[in-house]
Amino acid sequence: MTAKIIDGKAIAAKIRLRLRDRVDQRVADGSRRPGLAVVLLGEDPGSKIYVRNKINACAEAGFESRVHHLDSTTTQGDLLALIDELNKDDVIDGILVQLPLPEHIDDNVIIEAISPAKDVDGFHPCNVGLLAQRRPGLRPCTARGVMRLLDEVGAAYKHSKTVMIGASNIVGRPTALELLIAGATVTVCHRFTKDLRSEVERADILIVAAGKPGLVPGDWIKPGAIVIDVGINRLEDGKLVGDVQFDSAVGRAGHITPVPGGVGPMTVAMLLENTLLGAEMRDRKTGPHEPNPGAGKE
Ligand code: GUN
Repeated sequence: MTAKIIDGKAIAAKIRLRLRDRVDQRVADGSRRPGLAVVLLGEDPGSKIYVRNKINACAEAGFESRVHHLDSTTTQGDLLALIDELNKDDVIDGILVQLPLPEHIDDNVIIEAISPAKDVDGFHPCNVGLLAQRRPGLRPCTARGVMRLLDEVGAAYKHSKTVMIGASNIVGRPTALELLIAGATVTVCHRFTKDLRSEVERADILIVAAGKPGLVPGDWIKPGAIVIDVGINRLEDGKLVGDVQFDSAVGRAGHITPVPGGVGPMTVAMLLENTLLGAEMRDRKTGPHEPNPGAGKE
């Protein structure tokens, strides 16, 4: 068996085109373009690339965007003051503070300072709580991107055993919550999981977000499984690889995402979608506390 490759790059490009049409329609109807503010502290090369990708995607889809590139020595107080300004800024619908932050800044304090209505990362405890109660408002982008890819290949959530490797706040936990909302039976594996191989072997749908290159060998994968690899790891020779051993996995899986070109572009597309949703909610003066009727129904 040779797996079908799930082309996240092409799927994300289509989503961005559809977003562009919606933004053009908004503008034709007399509304503002949606506005995203991205805050970056320091010079981490990976973070700089991610931020650049987000800003380029904004331009392509007709969104306004603004980067606040601050020194790594910026104090927590100064960062909080900037967030306060952005919370009050009427042309900004989404605020994203690129993580990880320098050691002297408490991520949780910063995330909680962002208005839940502009929290396009979906990381504010309010938005996480709403997702956990299956009445989502703004939802984490990578988790949404994973779900879109699974939808695209017709994943039968209600009849599948789904294994999520990784329990981070950014990916693993929100993805597990999304899968639950979709009706999947979800096992979440993490660093304390005793026999990872036997869990993987049972998975009809396998999602890996551990940040460990080659963690999952191809021969662990159930023949025909859908495999979504969220890992992006740079090897010493500069090559980008996922958490799944792609070359062997492609011979067993039914569908598999490549790295790069799988989940990464979807995360950016979902960020734009959240920013547009944020703009629409602000127009209607609803917040993530009053989500769209019917959202998240099983
Ligand atoms: N760093 C790595 N992934 C993310 C993400 O999804 N959002 C933010 N804000 N920072 C990140």
